Amino acid sequence: MDWRVKPLDAILATAEKKSLKRTLGAFQLMLFGIGCIIGTGIFVLTAAGAQKAGPGLMLAFVIAGAVCVVAALCYAEIAAMIPVAGSAYTYSYASVGEFLAWTVGWALILEYAVAASAVSVGWSGYFSGTFLNEFFGVHLPPWLAAGPLALGGEAGGFINLPALVIALLVTWLLMIGTSESAKVNAILVAIKVVALTVFVGLTLTSPDFSPEKFNPFLPAGVFGGIGTGLGAVGAAATIFFAYVGFDAVSTAAEETKNPQRNVPIGLIGSLLFCTVFYVLVAAGAIGTIGGQPIMGPNGIPFPAGSEELARQCAMPAHAQALVCSKEALAHVLREIGFSWFGNAMGVAAFLALPSVILVLIFAQTRIFFVMSRDGLLPKKLSTIHPKWRTPHIMTAITGVVVAIAAAFLPVGILADYANAGTLYAFMMVAVALLVLRVKDPQRKRSFFLKGAWVIAPLTIAGCIFLYVNLPIEAILVLPGWGIIGLLVYFGYSYHRSHLGRGIVEVVDDIEGDEAMVPIKD
Ligand code: ALA
Repeated sequence: MDWRVKPLDAILATAEKKSLKRTLGAFQLMLFGIGCIIGTGIFVLTAAGAQKAGPGLMLAFVIAGAVCVVAALCYAEIAAMIPVAGSAYTYSYASVGEFLAWTVGWALILEYAVAASAVSVGWSGYFSGTFLNEFFGVHLPPWLAAGPLALGGEAGGFINLPALVIALLVTWLLMIGTSESAKVNAILVAIKVVALTVFVGLTLTSPDFSPEKFNPFLPAGVFGGIGTGLGAVGAAATIFFAYVGFDAVSTAAEETKNPQRNVPIGLIGSLLFCTVFYVLVAAGAIGTIGGQPIMGPNGIPFPAGSEELARQCAMPAHAQALVCSKEALAHVLREIGFSWFGNAMGVAAFLALPSVILVLIFAQTRIFFVMSRDGLLPKKLSTIHPKWRTPHIMTAITGVVVAIAAAFLPVGILADYANAGTLYAFMMVAVALLVLRVKDPQRKRSFFLKGAWVIAPLTIAGCIFLYVNLPIEAILVLPGWGIIGLLVYFGYSYHRSHLGRGIVEVVDDIEGDEAMVPIKD
């Protein structure tokens, strides 16, 4: 098989041509990272995580955070070395070749597009619960508030209208060229961090807080069994979603001052910051209103997002349970007597989650853009709109798919699918790092990862470990999605690949004139 490895020099020529100004420092990178990271994971999936692990959710946050930290170290070296668009897809193209790069690009659709759907559904819970219900006393009919039960939604559900609308709205903003300024991001990060800080302060000092609520700490054990998605590691595999997005920091490597120091600080700093918050938030939620899973007749928790759990949650006995809430954090505050703060939490999520959707859809279109520029996807998709200067066709298609998935599927299932794709991409970044160490040892690495031969294998092992602890459907989605990807690759992309036809582009910027140059041997 012809592996078609893209020459690194050609990729780096892109970066040189683009030569963005190096303006970002460690603090700005951290702000950027936190802006992408904090979202539906902590605001909503805390409930699904508790259903899988009970109070062991705190341990789950630590496990998922640890896998992300080692993955982030791999990202730091490779992003500082190859600071161009395309992230894991580009790194793979330069190391393990086109075929595997295609599979990574294909998996990144799960990471970005499907994650955007998940965040849209998460936003919908806060919109309906806080905005419509608490502020205006409007109850959305169940058929407009969730996807159908048959797809893992809710009894009486048919379409999640708010999720559909927010995904389309954000897509439209992206099409007309909206990008989030650093200032807006900083404000939204401040809103999220203040909201979580207030949550931690109020819950940990609440008279409702009692250590008793942490007993039993691991009602579903540490290992729930491969493919069950249960136990602390099953919850870790789901709650991993709460960290997805930190890799976006790597895309800013080219614009960073002193990347040797600042890229790793930005990546690791934002992750550690969020991990500490997440563990404290989980402690506050569980310590006050409890977080024991709803058990099935055989003493095993009902699967999160399952029909059975939806039925249980519809019963009055479970109406107040953390594991049933669609706006977990606001719900906790209301339960312990801070309705006003609960609503403020809802407003924070309402304001901040759309920016996470925006970053994810934006990242998706950039990956498609690079793949289409490489000839692996139709050129037409990356056509730039004459006035808006955006890849509007690609953005529209992505947005419609994101919106449809958000309209019909529940947040937990979408997040698990997104995690499967993300874990594959993270694993391949660690593989790319090692391959480049062997193939290109002399190349300048502005951040040289000490202990790479331990950290990269740990990343690979950690990603596989979390992957096999996802629920079985999510495990199967990756190969299933992969098979479709292979059909597209061999049916279309393989023959049209520019690299396969002997040409490599050296311009990366969407605005730039594209130059095609023959590859030098
Ligand atoms: N980490 C992001 C979130 O939790 C994707 O919403």
